Amino acid sequence: MATHLEGGSSAWLGVATPDETRRIVDALSRVYELITEVTDLDTLLESIMEESKEVASAEACSLLLYDESRGDLYFQVALGESGDQGKLKNFIRLSLGEGIAGSAAQNRESINVAEVSGDPRFYETADKVSHFESRSILAVPLLDKDNLVGVLEVLNKRGGGSFSDFDQQILEMFSSIVATVLTTAHLIEQNLRSERLAAIGTAVAGMSHFTKNIITGMQGSAELIDQALAQGNIHFIETGWPILKRSVERIGNVVEDMLAYSKPRKPAYVPCLIGDILGDVRDTFKGRLDQGDVQCSIDASDASGTVDLDPQGMYRCLLNLVSNAVDAAPQTEGEVRAVAHIDNGKLVVEVSDNGPGVPEESVDSVFEPFFSTKGSKGTGLGLAVTHKIITEHRGTITVHKSDLGGACFRVVVPKNREQG
Ligand SMILES: Nc1ncnc2c1ncn2[C@@H]1O[C@H](COP(=O)(O)OP(=O)(O)OP(=O)(O)O)[C@@H](O)[C@H]1O
Ligand SMILES: [Mg+2]
Repeated sequence: MATHLEGGSSAWLGVATPDETRRIVDALSRVYELITEVTDLDTLLESIMEESKEVASAEACSLLLYDESRGDLYFQVALGESGDQGKLKNFIRLSLGEGIAGSAAQNRESINVAEVSGDPRFYETADKVSHFESRSILAVPLLDKDNLVGVLEVLNKRGGGSFSDFDQQILEMFSSIVATVLTTAHLIEQNLRSERLAAIGTAVAGMSHFTKNIITGMQGSAELIDQALAQGNIHFIETGWPILKRSVERIGNVVEDMLAYSKPRKPAYVPCLIGDILGDVRDTFKGRLDQGDVQCSIDASDASGTVDLDPQGMYRCLLNLVSNAVDAAPQTEGEVRAVAHIDNGKLVVEVSDNGPGVPEESVDSVFEPFFSTKGSKGTGLGLAVTHKIITEHRGTITVHKSDLGGACFRVVVPKNREQG
């Protein structure tokens, strides 16, 4: 950001009177206060301009912004005593070089005119529209590095006469603040927009891919069931039905994850036995475990007392962790282990497997929504939802190397809800 304060250009401060220095310090501290407190850009710019008007003892002031696509200036803020300055916003645009503001913008230089009536650059139409009679004008360009952002202008020194060099220095200081505020606001807006678009794009692509696969499975099984009904062949129903059931279950899971992820929730705490929740999770996987060669063991013997938990939330978390562990474990001699114990007033649950583990470089990414290495077989929402629910329980979830050789996900939550 190019400022007018760079290098030796603040030497003028050394010759300012104590009174002038106080004026600057007061005005600057008010402006910095505004920047930290006001979150609405229009109000912020208006307040900074009000300060500029006061600090330069001017009757009116304007902030013109540069419209890059049209190559001209428009009024963003116009304040003054005639009361009609607001009309400038609707009716006037200035080309570069047009009027005193347009000239300051074109030459990237401040212009201080004591009496505008004899100045050929003066643009009279603005006065006609705002019902204001300009005498003196001080216009300062707003620059971001060498790029033109706009022009800050004060009009008519109160009590007559012209604006001083001191007024010019203060306004140049203000102009660099306004340029910074505008550039930062612009960057934030751009970043937010592209981040949001990228996130929506990833989400939509991931979800479409995932649901398309499930729907293909459902169509296949529906056809089998149709055939079975047409031919009275019960064998086709036996084949099609489990696929259909599994597909419905998968879609139900995604919807649950999306709902859990979409808004903050307070856990609905009740005293729970973690062994029961782990048992429910294992029962949910029974069909899948019976089909393959993956052993799933649970052990909650060191966590036998009740723990304050949201049972549905905790069930979702452990379901996601066990589901990932079953996915990661090898199809033959796969091993998944869920162990719970109480440590120092906290419930600790570890879900381990003997799969390949989580690579070092993915340790942080796995909790990001839509991060998945499973292609169309995963949405990448499971761990994001789990992380969210555990955080809502004021707990933590971390990933480690497991004794079984694969990954170990460790969940730690307070045993009692009033604990921190
Ligand atoms: N036990 C594990 N071992 C190895 N990698 C894992 C394990 N658990 C999770 N991961 C990695 O983390 C990624 C994100 O997991 P997450 O549960 O969020 O999504 P997903 O399992 O891919 O899809 P879904 O939304 O269906 O759960 C996985 O794709 C996988 O790469
Ligand atoms: Mg998962």
